[in-house]
Amino acid sequence: MSGSLATVSYIGATILFILCLGGLSNQETSRRGNLYGMIGMAIAVVATVFGPQVTAAGLPWIIGAMAVGGAIGVYLARTVQMTQMPELVAFMHSMVGLAAMLVGFASYIDPAVGDSLGHAEKVIHEVEIYLGVLIGAVTLSGSVVAFGKLSGKIGGKPVLLPGRHLMNLAGLLIVIYFGREFLNAPTIAAGMTPMIVMTVIALLFGVHMVMAIGGADMPVVVSMLNSYSGWAAAATGFMLNNDLLIVTGALVGSSGAILSYIMCQAMNRQFLSVIAGGFGGDSAKPKAAAGASAEPAGEVNPILAAETAELLREAKSVIIVPGYGMAVAQAQHTVYEITKFLREKGVNVRFGIHPVAGRMPGHMNVLLAEAKVPYDVVFEMDELNDDFPQTDVTMIIGANDIVNPAAQEDPSSPIAGMPVLEVWKAKTSIVMKRSMASGYAGVDNPLFYKDNNRMLFGDAKKMLDEVLIALKS
Ligand code: TAP
Repeated sequence: MSGSLATVSYIGATILFILCLGGLSNQETSRRGNLYGMIGMAIAVVATVFGPQVTAAGLPWIIGAMAVGGAIGVYLARTVQMTQMPELVAFMHSMVGLAAMLVGFASYIDPAVGDSLGHAEKVIHEVEIYLGVLIGAVTLSGSVVAFGKLSGKIGGKPVLLPGRHLMNLAGLLIVIYFGREFLNAPTIAAGMTPMIVMTVIALLFGVHMVMAIGGADMPVVVSMLNSYSGWAAAATGFMLNNDLLIVTGALVGSSGAILSYIMCQAMNRQFLSVIAGGFGGDSAKPKAAAGASAEPAGEVNPILAAETAELLREAKSVIIVPGYGMAVAQAQHTVYEITKFLREKGVNVRFGIHPVAGRMPGHMNVLLAEAKVPYDVVFEMDELNDDFPQTDVTMIIGANDIVNPAAQEDPSSPIAGMPVLEVWKAKTSIVMKRSMASGYAGVDNPLFYKDNNRMLFGDAKKMLDEVLIALKS
């Protein structure tokens, strides 16, 4: 493929990626957006593999690597459970970071690259390498820890080392010092030591940064690592002189940064305080320590599936609030059946979606769309929060932190200040979950003990099946 055809293909792919992002911003256009992204990526891969930068000798290697990578991708896509998606995304971010690191080292030791550049160009290229490896290493180790936290292999409690801010500052100064040494190194061998020291510090910084983040603040970290992976890809693009990778990385990096900002707004957090880590960790009461189960704080009122059906049948307006437990139970299809049944009977059924419900941005929207719940009954938290006092029944399906009144009522709670769905303001709220255990943030939930709240204990899918049968009988 000629250089100009490859450039035209890259421009076409860039436009498709922008259309993809535009499409993904809305549920109704998201399928089309995804399609644009897939076509754009196919064009990008073909134009790169058959483009002028790949020699005939390199082609078999690339095709072999693509076959192996593609096979792993197909296997993962077919076997991964919906509930494992967030950790899969974290894993993929870590791969982008690893790729940036490896490309950085390879392009530094490649004599063909160094020898072909003038002095100024060489300095610029080395700055790109140093920054690319730095961002890649932080993304790699941070994403590996995020993977561990999201999959439950690492506890959600923030690890707050004494003097952690000073340690971070010292790390930054050392990285800047060794950056100077790297640029002044007379030979590649001499430049390796500063580069390796910086890589080790960057890897430790990534671990330290994510370990210091409390459970409820993980959504910000997930989107932030998404952004870092974009910048790591852009840095790789600079190192490889590949315009498309630069543009694509910048698109991912900036959209991830915007998502982090939205997540911070949703959690009512300052971005810097989240990154500094341990938000709420110091002030948390012992009983609210992350990972602890909810302590009984009064009587709970259990309810049966048949009684739930009775309440729903008599209601005029119902708001359903889904959470992570709905994803675990895969209850979305039964939720839709119940919604359809009630709407046919004239009940006003709506869904209230919290921005950090589940374990990844848009988690609940994806599940509801999969079950074919109409988009016009699915509302954001802000659109619905004032309507709870006029609502007869709220059904909370496997949600916990996002409906926790402690966020408003207890200033010492680790989730204090986080906006929540005010489900307790409805005439009756029904919480469906298996036990009294706490949610991801490990915080006791006073909602369970409110007079107008009922607990429907059991697996959400099983309970909703029973409710549906009772409704239809
Ligand atoms: P959580 O607060 O984690 O609560 C989920 C509840 O579902 C649990 O209390 C659990 O109680 C219940 N559950 C689990 N399996 C169930 C099943 N099979 N049937 C019925 N119930 C089941 O979830 P949430 O309310 O959606 O809040 C999300 C939390 O995750 C927030 O703290 C958020 O910060 C965090 N987070 C979010 C993201 C993103 S980007 N959305 C990323 C990382 C972390 P039982 O065990 O008693 O059943």
